[in-house]
Amino acid sequence: RTVSILGAPIQTGASQPGCIMGPASLRIAGLGDILTELGWEVNDLGDLSIPAQDPVPHKNPAIHDLAETRAWIEALSDAAFDAAQKHDRPIFIGGDHALAAGTLSGLARHAKTQDRPLFVLWLDAHPDLHTLETTTSGNLHGTPVAYVTGQPDFEAFPPLEASIDPKNFCMMGIRSVDPAERERIKQIGLEVHDMRAIDETGVLAPLRAFLDRVRKANGLLHVSFDVDFLDPGIAPAVGTTVPGGATFREAHLIMEEVGDSDLVTSLDIVELNPFLDERGRTAKLLCDLAASLFGRRVLDRMTRSF
Ligand code: ARG
Ligand code: MN
Ligand code: MN
Ligand code: MN
Repeated sequence: RTVSILGAPIQTGASQPGCIMGPASLRIAGLGDILTELGWEVNDLGDLSIPAQDPVPHKNPAIHDLAETRAWIEALSDAAFDAAQKHDRPIFIGGDHALAAGTLSGLARHAKTQDRPLFVLWLDAHPDLHTLETTTSGNLHGTPVAYVTGQPDFEAFPPLEASIDPKNFCMMGIRSVDPAERERIKQIGLEVHDMRAIDETGVLAPLRAFLDRVRKANGLLHVSFDVDFLDPGIAPAVGTTVPGGATFREAHLIMEEVGDSDLVTSLDIVELNPFLDERGRTAKLLCDLAASLFGRRVLDRMTRSF
């Protein structure tokens, strides 16, 4: 029962600076101590860093900070691979969501060595499905899912050694989709539960169906948690807020249910921008959600017999 915590203060994928402080904020909010109290052996690997980069131009003029983001992806891919090989459950704390381009590519390589498929529960307001051709914001945190599922036009990113089957994704909380992303969702067959679907069915039915799929396939399960999955009213510390997000109770229920399944093998916590936080409340909420994922329960479940 070991978790490792790896900080990745990357902010070059976002438009607003501040995610560089994310790992520090989560540590100050007590992430490590909370997991220790839950009985985990916590191995804090500190923060990853990259050397200074020379600028790399791209034919899409909107793209910014390509060289730095590329270097982060490369470093994170190797770090995620190593962490997954050595520890029971690595937690990657960001940092913007471009981080997932690195963690998922490293974890996909790890899964290959285990001869097991990698599944991804993507909790986000956004599908992050742009290619380097289709992004109009040029913010590379909008691209990791397209990259790791092997879509074209990623020559400027590190070569992908193992891709992830788009059918192994389950997205929840989605409520901001650009036209090119909408097309790609249909084209590659991603399982997306947008907020309307969650309003209609609740989170449990689609989540349990997905967890059953992971279990039957003997899969590894990575959870990628973008702060903007949550409603901005409870989680203000993110640069890309979208109204109408997951509630406190929906988010905890997902974490408890995934925790109970005992399937999760790794986690990203991304897009926390402490510069936008209010007295640390978003960082504290994220630590409590991680606690739910890693076993904190109000009461133990008892079997009822009548
Ligand atoms: N689709 C928008 C874009 O490409 C928003 C992406 C937001 N991504 C995120 N990881 N917060 O700019
Ligand atoms: Mn390498
Ligand atoms: Mn995201
Ligand atoms: Mn998002």
